Amino acid sequence: MAAPELELTARALVAPGKGILAADESDGTIKKRFDSIGAESTEDNRRAYRDLLFTTQGAEEFISGVILFDETIRQSSADGTPFPELLSSRGVIPGIKVDKGAKPLANAPGETITEGLDGLRERLEEYRGLGARFAKWRATYSIGPELPSEYCVWTNAHALARYAALCQEAGIVPIVEPEVLMDGEHTIDEAAKVTGRVLQGLYTELRDQRVDFAGTLLKPNMVLSGYDAGDRAGVDEVAERTLEVFYRHVPAAVPGIVFLSGGQTDEDATAHLNAMNARGPHPWQLSFSYGRALQAPALKAWGGRRENVEAAQRAYYHRAKMNGAARTGSYAPEMEQAAA
Ligand code: 13P
Repeated sequence: MAAPELELTARALVAPGKGILAADESDGTIKKRFDSIGAESTEDNRRAYRDLLFTTQGAEEFISGVILFDETIRQSSADGTPFPELLSSRGVIPGIKVDKGAKPLANAPGETITEGLDGLRERLEEYRGLGARFAKWRATYSIGPELPSEYCVWTNAHALARYAALCQEAGIVPIVEPEVLMDGEHTIDEAAKVTGRVLQGLYTELRDQRVDFAGTLLKPNMVLSGYDAGDRAGVDEVAERTLEVFYRHVPAAVPGIVFLSGGQTDEDATAHLNAMNARGPHPWQLSFSYGRALQAPALKAWGGRRENVEAAQRAYYHRAKMNGAARTGSYAPEMEQAAA
């Protein structure tokens, strides 16, 4: 059995109608997002932007937890309340990204290994003291004629499991995130095959390293055609192929699968999750842990300007609400018209 606290936290993160906001963009990634709206990536602009998201009234109806970046977990709201405290006071669980990014994998051109295990035990202890109750570690896999290699699949699975074991030791729920990237011309069949191989490796390592599945969450890609594929699969096919792969590879002891959006449009990410939940019930909760798909319209509405904060909050609230509806299969594209 998982320590009861771990299992309770994991289950709270996938409570009915709710999902996770990923607001843990690294310095490089947030700069890219800010560049796209012509805003400067200064520490205070990053703080102001995250503050806008975390103080959105009512978002907690649909948002169970927020993943923070190292800088963000140490920052405070405009009134001086530290972000983790602000979130907890609204019933939202603070989480933290702990990996140090995907780096080139030696002897494997085009493939990556995620780093960050050295000193992780000590960092987890500090983050727990700062209020984090769950964590995230992301590994990435590219699809190509010879990719991913077994070497890439197993080294990343091994690292993910080492991270997960350390998190559980620290009383922190590990979200394990193996992301098969959408880039390329691959078919949905290829994406299904690769996603299955990656999950097989991951659950073998998690079991071998004695990780308690009940105190974990899985954050995977959906099974999708490549961005540049000629004939891309539609909503029903994505839902069915994704479910097929997860039914084969994810133990029922895992409380929830919280999908990443991975470059899907925000409305596609909502429609796909909705279609999967409409086919339920399933052995695990099917939820979201979206970055771009929850934030894109809010970021655009904000544009780095103080006078746009309310418009940005309305846009974020709307996406959170749409994804909350997708948790029960009750989303319909017409609901988008009710946008604030
Ligand atoms: P996206 O939903 O934008 O893919 O981000 C989720 C995430 O946390 C990636 O690590």
